[in-house]
Amino acid sequence: MRIKDAATARLRELGVEVKQGVALADETSLGIGGTTDELLLRKYETIPEVMGLLAEEKIPHRFLGGGTNVLIADGDLPYVILHLPTAHPGMRVEGNAAYVDASADLGGMVTFCAKHDLGGMEGLIGVPGSVGGALRMNAGAYGTQIGPHVREVELYRAATGKIETLRGHEIRFDYRHTSFAPDDVMLRVKLELPSKPFKEILAGIKVCNEKRRSSQPLNQKSAGCIFKNPPGGSAGRMIDELGLKGHHVGDAMVSDRHANFFVNAGKASCADMLKLIEDVRERVRSGFGVELENEVIVWRN
Ligand code: EPU
Repeated sequence: MRIKDAATARLRELGVEVKQGVALADETSLGIGGTTDELLLRKYETIPEVMGLLAEEKIPHRFLGGGTNVLIADGDLPYVILHLPTAHPGMRVEGNAAYVDASADLGGMVTFCAKHDLGGMEGLIGVPGSVGGALRMNAGAYGTQIGPHVREVELYRAATGKIETLRGHEIRFDYRHTSFAPDDVMLRVKLELPSKPFKEILAGIKVCNEKRRSSQPLNQKSAGCIFKNPPGGSAGRMIDELGLKGHHVGDAMVSDRHANFFVNAGKASCADMLKLIEDVRERVRSGFGVELENEVIVWRN
């Protein structure tokens, strides 16, 4: 989608950088995604005004975080992309509290807190993506989830057009799911973390990194796990037991390292990846009678 010149000029007045014709394949860990204009916000505080302007100009839009858990359609996209300010995201520690901007890198936040002797998030170290994405999805790995550490979230609520603060107990964090509205935009978070010596945290981080390296295709383009694990089961194990490692549609392929990771082995399109997802879902349904639910977020046109 191309933003008209008049709207571009108004956006620039609000300090928004407008980039035209951006290939989102370059901004997602899967290396898949069509083309559209992109808006880079410079200040969180301008969000209500920017959103008001987009509504007035009838410009459909979506926020993109780290791009590590999303499968975006091919071709010319019918919406523009918004990015929160990413230069020097704020992170600070006060006692056992960490205050972090949503655009910060999740792993960067874990190590920053570790350096201040705050632990409890070791398991999240290798989870790619932004803090905002991790909050929205309640990211987790190796027994750690971000949700239980959240004390406050500052967010832009499209429903009210305002920046608001929610307390931790007002938010539901479930397995890879939260009670945030789909159009809520995470801005900042306050976490409460247990005190732990840096050395101990580092040892925990090392263990998680090794486990991840030995079981996941880290050097290939993927969006992490494609399906949520069904209650009490393992999507990866089921897909593996069906002999589907290496199974592919075009360049979209079931990883031969971890069967719940689908990788872009070359020039996979979104259509290829969606076909592979439906094919594997169908095979698991007929093989095990289990209906797998997507873990990856799909942005269809
Ligand atoms: N397994 C196989 N074959 C495979 C993959 C796994 O037999 O190809 C077996 C493993 O041997 C193990 C079981 O399945 O017995 C579970 O595998 P694993 O420990 O790799 O964990 P997972 O349940 O597949 C989950 C999360 C990952 C997270 C890891 C580590 C989901 C959907 N996945 O994977 O998160 O990194 O645990 O805690 O919850 C993600 O969210 O994108 C993600 C990758």
